[in-house]
Amino acid sequence: MKKGMLLFLLVALTALRVQAGDGMWLPLLLKQLNEAEMKGLGMKMSAEDIYSVNKNSLKDAIVSFGGGCTGEVISGKGLVLTNHHCGESRIQSHSTLSKNYYADGFWAKSLAEELPNQGLFVTFIVRMEDVTKTVLENVEEEMPENLRQGNIERNIALLRNSAQRETWQEISVRPFFGGNQYFLFVTETYRDVRFVGAPPASIGSFGKDTDNWVWPRHTGDFSLFRIYADRNNRPAEYSPDNVPFQPRHFLPISLDGVEEGDFTLVFGFPGATNAYLPAVALQQTIEIVNPARIAVRDRTLGVYDKAMRADRQIRLQYVSKQARLANAWKKWMGEMQGLEAAGAVAKKREYEAEFQRRVMAHPEWKWRYGNVLAELEARYKDLAVYLQSNEYATEIGSRNIELFQLSNTLSGYVNVLENNGVEALKGRSDNLLKYLEGFYKDYRPEIDRQVFAELMALYMSKVQADLMPGIAIEQATEYGKDYNLWAAELYTGSMLNRGDLALQMVRVKPEDFISAVQKDPAYQLARAIVEVNAEKLAKPVGRIQQEINRLQRLYMEAQMTVFTEKRFFPDANSTLRVSYGQVSGSEPRDGIRYQPVTYLDGVMEKYKPGDYEFDVPAKLVQLYKNRDFGPYAAANGKMPVNFTGSNHTTGGNSGSPAIDAHGNLIGLNFDRQWEGTMSDLFYDPAICRNIMVDIRYVLFLVDKLGGAKHLIEEMKLVHPKSGK
Ligand code: ARG
Ligand code: ASP
Repeated sequence: MKKGMLLFLLVALTALRVQAGDGMWLPLLLKQLNEAEMKGLGMKMSAEDIYSVNKNSLKDAIVSFGGGCTGEVISGKGLVLTNHHCGESRIQSHSTLSKNYYADGFWAKSLAEELPNQGLFVTFIVRMEDVTKTVLENVEEEMPENLRQGNIERNIALLRNSAQRETWQEISVRPFFGGNQYFLFVTETYRDVRFVGAPPASIGSFGKDTDNWVWPRHTGDFSLFRIYADRNNRPAEYSPDNVPFQPRHFLPISLDGVEEGDFTLVFGFPGATNAYLPAVALQQTIEIVNPARIAVRDRTLGVYDKAMRADRQIRLQYVSKQARLANAWKKWMGEMQGLEAAGAVAKKREYEAEFQRRVMAHPEWKWRYGNVLAELEARYKDLAVYLQSNEYATEIGSRNIELFQLSNTLSGYVNVLENNGVEALKGRSDNLLKYLEGFYKDYRPEIDRQVFAELMALYMSKVQADLMPGIAIEQATEYGKDYNLWAAELYTGSMLNRGDLALQMVRVKPEDFISAVQKDPAYQLARAIVEVNAEKLAKPVGRIQQEINRLQRLYMEAQMTVFTEKRFFPDANSTLRVSYGQVSGSEPRDGIRYQPVTYLDGVMEKYKPGDYEFDVPAKLVQLYKNRDFGPYAAANGKMPVNFTGSNHTTGGNSGSPAIDAHGNLIGLNFDRQWEGTMSDLFYDPAICRNIMVDIRYVLFLVDKLGGAKHLIEEMKLVHPKSGK
């Protein structure tokens, strides 16, 4: 046997030994692919109990929450549990300094006190179906990509019209395995979702950015909402006449806790992974993409941090924006480090060498797949020309400067006025007004102005000059590269910084406001940058990306054909998935052993009175001192807080239930540990761990800290281990 082959087999065998973990599986294929392994890990349910179209199953209790998170129904009256950070922007928007639900916590005492949330929705999956054959009908191998895509879209449109559904249900069709397979989803979306309760933010986001993505962790990251339906239990827009939704299934809650080795299942809507990319893509992530994005956010976050520490009002206004920017920023750093520590590029290269050996030894494969890696390599080289400029320009043009984001939104209204006239604009002025009210409630021009100054300095030095708009170069030259001066002039001269004035104008005459926007200097600069980005960056990058997508689809097919001993899961794409593993600690670095469970004692160790990240309410300290844990303490008398498991998760899995061997709720997924944050690109079962809140901590906080016993009474508490 050749040395390379031997090495490959060794790697494959070790991977098999530590099996639990890798994969985000399709609920409807569990029986074929996973059930046996799951039972081997301790599961007592069947695949049918998890996902079934014929009877109620766990999936009927799972929702996609607000599009980016997961939630689960935990009572017969539509009570939904999700993370604090998933509800954060809602909680914050209901808060003011005098009525600060964000800081102080909130518990609705009755249905009447539950707070509506404009735009918030939850979606249930009714069923899913493999529709690959229909979608790929008339799609030929050699078709150019746009033709192929056109045919696919036509087939999908036909399917959506002909698929069986009730009038209140929606149909969607999504690609899997890079477009080698397609699945259809029948869904139900509820749009009256009310805020029921949350602990004080000092508990719900305890440890903030310092602890984010890190184990050991001590965060009570949960919040409660309720789904409302019409009198027939169907989806309905918000109405005071709506009633609590009655789910087909809700999760019972186990009071028996977890121990290392217990089976765990995480059921939710993971957003995006890229587990099958070539080595060159990982290399570009490490060398270009992540460093660029991090550099931009370093500066934005630096400005925010100073301002937020100095002023309580600003802290409340910026906390949600800051958390969103900081979350990905920190993850990108962890991802780079993790890829490097794992030697991911070199390991992918070994894998590719083995792939190539097998392909070349097989005439048919050689003909079909022989060049795919070389071509991918070449296209990524083409991409490299634009990559740095593209990352900086997109990050700066669309995600960090608020005035730019405002301009991007307003440009939609400018288009309405220009193309459809005044009446059309007036028809949307309610939306415009609502949007602007929300924007200005939390906007501080002096902060955004500093962000602008910092980021434009970066923009001028990192983006290729021929990929910028002339107006940016002219203005930078005019101010002699004094970015503070440039910012000061631009922000003073822009009426977009005068929220009171803007709102006033929209109320009186929206068309005058929009005309003024068009002439606004900040608006014009923002548009120029965004338009050049679209023309000179997004277009060529998109063209190359389309080629890469085609090759990646082929490479995906090839990997699945060539590595017959390997079991493949489709990359996450915001559709419903099952991850499973066990409660498990880890040894992430030499000499370090992470315990799988943390306790309230650890919260008290980290507790720093008055600190912005590590303070807690006095009442929590009191409850701790009195050991007043109610029926929620662990067998050792301590209050459990968080635990880790070997479930493969990603962004979007936040709020996903952690479920025990029998189908009961034991925790709430909310994060991953630092050493394993590269798991979207390169999963290492020895090091990658997901982090969950222990459900007993949630119950303790609702009951003992929040005094909301009426919510506990709605739930179904069980003792599966002791058989009570
Ligand atoms: N890292 C977790 C996730 O990706 C939790 C984020 C919430 N915490 C925060 N500081 N932003 O969403
Ligand atoms: N915290 C993430 C989320 O919000 C979960 C993760 O990335 O592990 O979905």
